[in-house]
Amino acid sequence: MQNFNYYNPTRVLFGRGMISKLPRLLTQDQKILVAYGGGSIKQNGVYDQVMSALEGFTVVEFGGIEANPQYQTCMRAVDLVRQEKINFLLSVGGGSVLDAIKFIAAAVHFKGEEPWDILARNAGITSALPLGCVLTLPATGSESNSNAVISRAETGEKLAFSSKHVFPAFAVLDPTTTFSLPERQITNGVVDAFVHVMEQYLTYDVNAPLQDRFAESILQTLIEQGPLAIRTPQDYDVRANIMWAATMALNTLIGQGVPQDWTTHQIGHELTALQGIDHARTLAIIFPAVMKHQRQFKGDKIVRYGRRVWGIIEPERERAIDLTIAKTIEFFRQMGAPTCLADVSLTPQDVWQAVAAHEKRGSRLGEGQRIGPKEIGEILLLAA
Ligand code: NZQ
Ligand code: ZN
Repeated sequence: MQNFNYYNPTRVLFGRGMISKLPRLLTQDQKILVAYGGGSIKQNGVYDQVMSALEGFTVVEFGGIEANPQYQTCMRAVDLVRQEKINFLLSVGGGSVLDAIKFIAAAVHFKGEEPWDILARNAGITSALPLGCVLTLPATGSESNSNAVISRAETGEKLAFSSKHVFPAFAVLDPTTTFSLPERQITNGVVDAFVHVMEQYLTYDVNAPLQDRFAESILQTLIEQGPLAIRTPQDYDVRANIMWAATMALNTLIGQGVPQDWTTHQIGHELTALQGIDHARTLAIIFPAVMKHQRQFKGDKIVRYGRRVWGIIEPERERAIDLTIAKTIEFFRQMGAPTCLADVSLTPQDVWQAVAAHEKRGSRLGEGQRIGPKEIGEILLLAA
C-alpha cells in the first residue's frame, strides 16, 4: 500500500426529513447565500423545505446555475456575495450547483488578478468562504470532497480544481429529494459513481485488499440498485442506497493508498466542453475504450474485477478480460447510457479537438502516465 494523508471534514446528515435540521448546522450571525440551479428545487418542494428551515436566518438567493456550471455565472455570484457581505454559501441542488459554490467560495477570497487561474493555472488557494449543501442528485460525490469542475463557454474549456478549503462543512442527503429525478439523471448518477470507483480501482495491484473490497462492494451495490431505481422509482431504500454509494464512491476514502487513473474523466470533460454531452454519458462512452486500450497494463485488475464483481470464472485470461469489458458495457446499456460515440451521433473526427485541447495542457494521463495525445486519439477510435 502507498502512503497517504487522509482528511475529510464533511459532516453528513443522511435520511428522510434531515433538511429540517439545517438550523443546527448554521448560526444566526451568518448571512447565507442559497444557490440553486434551473428550478427543479421549486418544483419538487425542496426549495420550500429549505426556506422554511431557514426561517429567521438572513438569506439571499442566487438561482439559475446551469448544468456544467459556467465561469461567468459564478463570477456574477462572486459580485453578489461581495456586495451583500455574505459569509456562508448553501448549495441546494446537484453537483453543478455545488461545484459552482465551491468555486465562488474560493474566488471571493482569491488575491490574484483573474480567478480563472484557480482552474487554468492551479493558482494557490489559501482560504475560502465556508459552505454546505443540500444534495438532490447522487452522482458526483462533490458533497463530501474538495473538487469542483467549472466550464468556460468562450474558450471551450472545462477544468477542475481541488482545495481542502472547499470541503463542504456539511452535506444534507435526504433520498426523498431524488424522487423527482428524470430517468436520464438517475442513469447519469449511477454511471458517474460507477466510473469514480473504477478510476480509483482499475490500475495495478499494490496489495491493498481493503481498498479493493470497498471498491468492489460499491460497484456491486450500484449494479444491484441502479436498475431497481429505474424499475421502482419510488422505492426509498433503493434511492438511499444509491445516494450513499455515490457519496462513498468519491469522498476519497477508497482511493487512499492506491494508484488512480482519471483518464476517462479527463477525456470526458473535453467531450462535454466540445459537444455539451452530459458528464456521465461521456464516461460511459470513453471508459470501455480505456479498458480496451489499457488491457495490457490493467489486465490483472480487470480479471479480478470480472471475477469478484461479475462472477466471471473463465480461466483463459484474454477471454476473461473480453467478457468483463462486455459485462461493463452491458450494465451501462441496461442503465440506458450510450456506450460509444455513434450512440450520440458523433464520430471520432467530431471530437478530434479533444486531442488538441489535451496537447495544449501537456499533461500525460493514466497511472503510468502512458496516455498522451496519440493514445487519446486511439482511445477515441476505440470509442467509435
Ligand atoms: O438545474 P436544476 O433545475 O436543479 O436541474 C438539474 C439539472 O438539470 C437536475 N436535477 C438535479 N436534482 C434534481 C434534478 N431534477 C429533478 N429532481 C432533482 N432532485 O439535474 C440536471 C443535472 O444536474 P447537475 O447538477 O448538472 O448533475 P450532476 O450532479 O451530475 O453534476 C454534474 C457536474 O458535476 C461535475 C461534472 O463535470 C458536471 O459539471 N463533477 C463534479 C465532481 C466533483 N465535484 O467531485 C466529480 C464528477 O466527476 C464530475 O466531474
Ligand atoms: Zn464524474
